[in-house]
Amino acid sequence: MSVPGVRIEIEKLRRVHHLHGRQIVVLDGLTAAIEPGERVAVVGASGSGKSTLMHILGLLDRPTGGRVTLDGREVGSLGTSERARIRNRRIGFVFQSHNLLREQTALGNVMMPVRLSGTSPSVALQRAEILLRSVGLGHRLEHLPGALSGGEQQRVALARALVMGPGLVLADEPTGNLDPATAAGVFDLMLQLNEQLGSTLVVVTHSMDLASQFPRVLRLVDGRVQEAA
Ligand SMILES: Nc1ncnc2c1ncn2[C@@H]1O[C@H](COP(=O)(O)OP(=O)(O)OP(=O)(O)O)[C@@H](O)[C@H]1O
Ligand SMILES: [Mg+2]
Repeated sequence: MSVPGVRIEIEKLRRVHHLHGRQIVVLDGLTAAIEPGERVAVVGASGSGKSTLMHILGLLDRPTGGRVTLDGREVGSLGTSERARIRNRRIGFVFQSHNLLREQTALGNVMMPVRLSGTSPSVALQRAEILLRSVGLGHRLEHLPGALSGGEQQRVALARALVMGPGLVLADEPTGNLDPATAAGVFDLMLQLNEQLGSTLVVVTHSMDLASQFPRVLRLVDGRVQEAA
């Protein structure tokens, strides 16, 4: 299975919060372009705006100023239902804590995005099973998240992010809660599956070790990008 990766263009992106009458400038003229199928690590100090950037790219937040386009479509111009549709069809997320539904099995969690898209239950089941097997969890299909290890939970979250065949995979510290060896395993898997799928991959990490596995590293400093060599 291979999908066209999403092209991302970010031009002078600003994101400002207002809190108790004060302005908090998080992103301040950030400019970057990410090609379809590129794999990019995003690093930067705590509070530098990494999650903010991911939320904007993932259509969970809106820019205050500047332009962000996904495949040439400016995100600011998209209506609510169009944003939801693109999120479901084109974007896969992995968060630091897995955000799995506690009452649903591994299979139920991975099936969810497919069910939401209106695909028949039997097709959803089939796709979820294939994905769970590809992340090495074929023997844990009926487990609830609470009965899975941290690394297994993140692999379920990865399977859920990939099950719709997204053109863009966004992962915000996907291994932040895992020990280094388990984290390295999840990263390997993410890179390997991404190579097969051809999607664009943007991953936030605090680990320079993990970031160095990516061909390109963007560092956020003062609300902008400092590109590492
Ligand atoms: N709703 C909000 N109101 C005010 N300030 C906010 C809001 N959301 C985020 N911020 C501020 O924006 C800055 C960037 O936050 P963000 O979560 O993007 O950082 P980060 O780089 O992901 O940090 P971390 O590595 O700790 O996850 C922080 O200083 C945060 O306090
Ligand atoms: Mg963050």
